[in-house]
Amino acid sequence: MELVALSHKVGSGRVDVVEIESPEERSRICEIVLRDLPDWFGIEEATAAYIRDVAELPTFAVGDDALLSLKLHTPRAAEVYLMGVRRARHGEGLGTALLAAAEDHLRARAVEYLQVKTLGPSDPDPGYARRRAFYEARGFVPLEELPELWEHNPCLILVKRL
Ligand SMILES: CC(C)(COP(=O)(O)OP(=O)(O)OC[C@H]1O[C@@H](n2cnc3c(N)ncnc32)[C@H](O)[C@@H]1OP(=O)(O)O)[C@@H](O)C(=O)NCCC(=O)NCCS
Repeated sequence: MELVALSHKVGSGRVDVVEIESPEERSRICEIVLRDLPDWFGIEEATAAYIRDVAELPTFAVGDDALLSLKLHTPRAAEVYLMGVRRARHGEGLGTALLAAAEDHLRARAVEYLQVKTLGPSDPDPGYARRRAFYEARGFVPLEELPELWEHNPCLILVKRL
């Protein structure tokens, strides 16, 4: 395992982010984190697909408590494919540290744009409004809402220039 952002400073504390090299380990941590977030990842089929897919993706973690996986779409553009932090550790800076480590990783590979998809503002869910605010506060710009990409939910694409 490679330490990519050892002791990432967040607020007054420090968070150790590790890049996970082993496919099995990526899936194992993903399963622990997603099973802890049934309000967000409650659809079994989708959760199983995430657990399977992250095995092959660049993945960063904070212990078994938080995970972020990236998908490279083109040599210059990537996506936050999945990010989750176990509920008991929300608001401690783990998500911020994971995102910063992932961005460092991408910049070092000359990737210029990072996108993330989340539930769009035409859905009134306040939890997702908070999630959009998380990304916007970290430099992402809402680009376009796609009403039909996901079956019954509006998808918002946010993008950040790295
Ligand atoms: C959204 C999420 C990744 C943020 O990670 P985190 O480690 O809790 O966030 P941090 O502590 O680094 O930062 C806290 C910020 O996140 C926001 N936030 C969003 N959802 C939050 C939640 N459920 N609990 C606490 N903070 C949350 C806070 O408002 C705060 O914003 P600010 O710093 O700009 O004021 C995490 O809360 C989570 O896993 N939520 C459930 C799943 C999810 O929404 N995944 C995103 C997929 S698009």
